Parts: sequence; C-alpha cells; structure tokens
Amino acid sequence: DKGEYRHYMLKEIHEQPRVIKATMEGRVTASRVLEQALGTEAGDLLKDVRHVQIIACGTSYHAGMVARYWIEDLADIPCSVEVASEFRYRKHVIQQDTLFLCISQSGETADTLAALRQAKKAGFRAALAICNVPGSSLVRESDLVIMTQAGPEIGVASTKAFTTQLVALLIFTLALARKNGLSEERETEIVQALHLVPGQVNDVLALEGEIAEISKRFMDKNHSLFLGRGSQFPVAMEGALKLKEISYIHAEAYPAGELKHGPLALVDSEMPVITVAPNNSMAEKLKSNLEEVRARGGELFVFADSSANIKPEENIHVVQLPEVHEITAPIVYTVPLQLLSYHVAVLKGTDVDQPRNLAKSVTVE
Ligand code: F6R
Repeated sequence: DKGEYRHYMLKEIHEQPRVIKATMEGRVTASRVLEQALGTEAGDLLKDVRHVQIIACGTSYHAGMVARYWIEDLADIPCSVEVASEFRYRKHVIQQDTLFLCISQSGETADTLAALRQAKKAGFRAALAICNVPGSSLVRESDLVIMTQAGPEIGVASTKAFTTQLVALLIFTLALARKNGLSEERETEIVQALHLVPGQVNDVLALEGEIAEISKRFMDKNHSLFLGRGSQFPVAMEGALKLKEISYIHAEAYPAGELKHGPLALVDSEMPVITVAPNNSMAEKLKSNLEEVRARGGELFVFADSSANIKPEENIHVVQLPEVHEITAPIVYTVPLQLLSYHVAVLKGTDVDQPRNLAKSVTVE
C-alpha cells in the first residue's frame, strides 16, 4: 500500500530513516559493533581474511564500490569489486584467504548466484551475503548472512535497499577492521557517526521541495554528467543509474578527476553536471573541476555542506546538505540524488515504479 504517497518509490525513499535504524538495531551499541550479532561463526570466519572479493549487479554493485573504499581505508585489507556477469565468465586468480561477498537485494539475481557457485568450487575462504530477502537462494547458499532490514521494496528502482546495504556493509567493515588493527577510538567515532545518519537523512528529505524545483531544469535535457571523488564516485554512479532508469535521460558518472581526460569535450549549456561534494579532503580538488565546467557554459548542480564553501552563482545551483562524517557521507548523499531523479521522472510523466524494459528481479541471464 502506497499510503499517502503517489508512488512506491517515493514511499520507499521516505522510509529510509526508519529502515536504516532497523538495520543497525541489535548490531551496534552506542559506541561499538556487536560482532556476535553477525553470527556465531563470524569471529572465526573474519579472523584470517586477507582479501575481500565483492560481487553484485546494478545498484548493489554500487554499494560494493562504496564498501571497497571503507574496507581498504578502515580494515587495511585489499578489496576487489566486480559485476557478477563479468566475473562469472572469466578466469580469476584466487588470492589466499579471500572472503567472497555477494550483495543482492532480492537474493535471486542469476548472475550473482552463478558467481557464488563458481567461487565455492574454486575454494574461497567463506561466502558472506548481504541481502534483503530471507530464505532467498543467496541467503541459503552463503556461510554468513547480514540481512538488510529494508522491508519489501516494490519500486523497480532500488532506493532503501541500497542505503541499508551501505549500513550493513559499514557494520561488516568495522567488524573486519577490528581484527586488523582498527583502534577502539576510531570504531567508536564511526559508530557514533552512524547513529546520526537517520536524522541526517530526515534533514535531506526536508529539502524535497527545493530539489523538486531544481528538477525542472532537467525536463528538456537529453544528457547529464554526474561527478564525485573518492567514495562519492560510486554515489555519483548510483545517481546516474537512477536518472537513466526512471526518467530515461542519458546519464554518465565520472570520477571528477577524469573530466579533463575526455568528457569535458561534451560540456556545454545543454549538459547539466551534477556533483556530490561533501566537505571532505577532496572538496578543494572538486572545486577546480567545477570551474572547468562553468568556464564552458555548463549548468552545475552541487550537493555540498556549508563548510565546502561553494556559493550559488549564475548557472551554479547549490543544495546545502547537513554536515556529515566523511565515512557515512555516501549514505546521506545518495538520498538527494534519489529525490532528484524521482522528481524529474514525475515531471516527464514516466511510469516511475515500473520503468520500461526493466524487471525487479533478474532471475535469468
Ligand atoms: C537499480 C536496480 C538494479 C538492481 C540489480 C541487482 O535500481 O534495482 O540495478 O540493483 O538488478 O539486483 P539485486 O540487488 O536484487 O541482486
């Protein structure tokens, strides 16, 4: 039931503060991660992990890409991420003590399951699943499972499943990192930051009117460019995927530093550029990318917090987000991009919950 909402997608976007909290419930205290909550064998399975191989498709793949930044940063463990349809059809080199991590909302995605079955034959250390559907094939076939508590997701475009995947992945990363030298202080700092996320997402939802206003600028556009750096690059990729899926506007995501290596040639007044730029260590670098776009007459849409100090000017629209911890920023910064694509799609009159040519669960190759 959509209740007061016009579409399931909008309802699911608004459920995020609650389901993010639900995904943390019982797994973290006020200051620490509860390792046992990840399963009684979690301690043993995570102990000697020397490499993490993440496999997923679509939006779930973007969650995996964010997790790679976290795992290498906090756990000091090398991590590879690959889409399942590529991984399953190539020869791969198995590193010692690899944890194989599959991310899937449905737990029934054919390519992801095939990759897992192959990996088991090849002898990875253990298989961890991050999944939203209890009893799914993925859950049944994995050694360790962290369920996202997003509840049923009806809209084909994944929203709350993605942000809860990120929460589960961050909790997993902290449990893993603790075995590999992460200090108690740093763990506490991040867990405390995680507790702030539901409130911060609420603050972003309150910006919906402002974002709906901005979405009008996209109505007559055929192309768009999404930029982000570091762990915000996968957020840009996810924002671009959402816009493509439901508004049918061509959208591409680039790491901001790649702009001058090609895509800058596309930038003119018909090419809106969307950037996600919280005030992390990368904000300064991102600002020079913004200049490059502006100098070519491009229209810019910047999602940043006030301390990034990016001022609205002609052709620069700034949506000011709450200040967030650098580690949890990808979760919060995903939400305004969901709202943007939703409102563009509504204005264009597309079938938001059932975009053309797409299915919710891709159980065939
Ligand atoms: C995008 C979307 C798809 C899925 C992909 C994987 O909004 O929903 O890209 O993310 O088909 O599905 P799961 O996570 O069920 O394996």
